[in-house]
Amino acid sequence: MNIIETENLTKIYKGNIRAVDNLNLQIEEGSIYGLLGPNGAGKSTTIKMLTTVIKPTSGTARVAGLDIIKQSMEVRRIIGLVPQDLTTDEDLKGIENLMMVAKFYDVPTAKARENIDRLLKLVDLQDAAKRLVGQYSGGMRKRLELIAGLVHEPKILFLDEPTLGLDVQTRSLMWDYIKNIQETKNITIILTSHYLEEVDALSDKLSIINRGKLIVSGTPAELKNNVGGDILTMSFRSAEDMNKSLEILSNFQPTKVTEKTARFKVKSSEVVLPEIIEPLKRNGIEPLRYQVDKPSLDTVFMDYVGRALPEEEGEGDSRKMMMNLRRLRR
Ligand SMILES: Nc1ncnc2c1ncn2[C@@H]1O[C@H](COP(=O)(O)OP(=O)(O)OP(=O)(O)O)[C@@H](O)[C@H]1O
Ligand SMILES: [Mg+2]
Repeated sequence: MNIIETENLTKIYKGNIRAVDNLNLQIEEGSIYGLLGPNGAGKSTTIKMLTTVIKPTSGTARVAGLDIIKQSMEVRRIIGLVPQDLTTDEDLKGIENLMMVAKFYDVPTAKARENIDRLLKLVDLQDAAKRLVGQYSGGMRKRLELIAGLVHEPKILFLDEPTLGLDVQTRSLMWDYIKNIQETKNITIILTSHYLEEVDALSDKLSIINRGKLIVSGTPAELKNNVGGDILTMSFRSAEDMNKSLEILSNFQPTKVTEKTARFKVKSSEVVLPEIIEPLKRNGIEPLRYQVDKPSLDTVFMDYVGRALPEEEGEGDSRKMMMNLRRLRR
């Protein structure tokens, strides 16, 4: 069942800035959904509309069956939001910050204490909770922000750039916390990121957005499979071996050939490898080694969006993007 459905969701800011442009998303209940895109793609604007912080210019969305425009108050009660900018108060202790959130949502004190206790354990902040937030490291602060969004036990949690500015190690620690939260609480999590590895590691499904528009949606594996497949590189003992092999494998077109190596782009190396190894073996050729490179989400992103992160300007880019889109539709 879809817990979130957007219908031509659009936000045009003053000055005719089309931040989100006719976005149609379907997000399944109980999943982790990633919104991936470069700076300025419209990720935060989308999150702000879905969490009723701002109103769409046109289109709408249903969140757990509630209309974000007509039933914004009801929506607010069942969602948790961890915005891109830090919201906890540096002059308060961790625990005081969380109690304030509880009060804001009218969570009864005893219940709040119980929830907060459990959440602090979940992100290993029990001891730090008694200290002022101003003394926290960046990673501790982000962990506190994360659970601040959970104090009132929402059904859906929105995380806008949950690991922005953290170092690589702290980020992967944060991923474990996020996964753990999704599993123990069985909630739906929508997260935005411009870190490709992040959505790859966390999300069940993702959408790539760019300049407010949906580029493509799917599971990380689906998106990777759509993009040209695997790169298979074979090295041979001699140039003679290689040339003979290329003749035998005439139904495979190499993308690159050097003196003793040949590179092929194949849909799935698992399927194709036996079809390559067997005929060579029959002809007495044994390549020195095979190397299989799987595409990363990075490759996928570049293939769809057709430009590097972070955002660069230029019309040539959108042309490449349209070409990629056309290819996708075929
Ligand atoms: N309040 C605003 N008024 C006018 N334009 C805005 C406003 N907020 C965002 N924008 C513009 O809308 C576009 C989308 O911004 P948004 O913050 O949604 O992108 P984002 O994908 O979250 O980017 P980032 O990765 O940098 O957080 C950008 O061009 C941005 O400059
Ligand atoms: Mg943002």
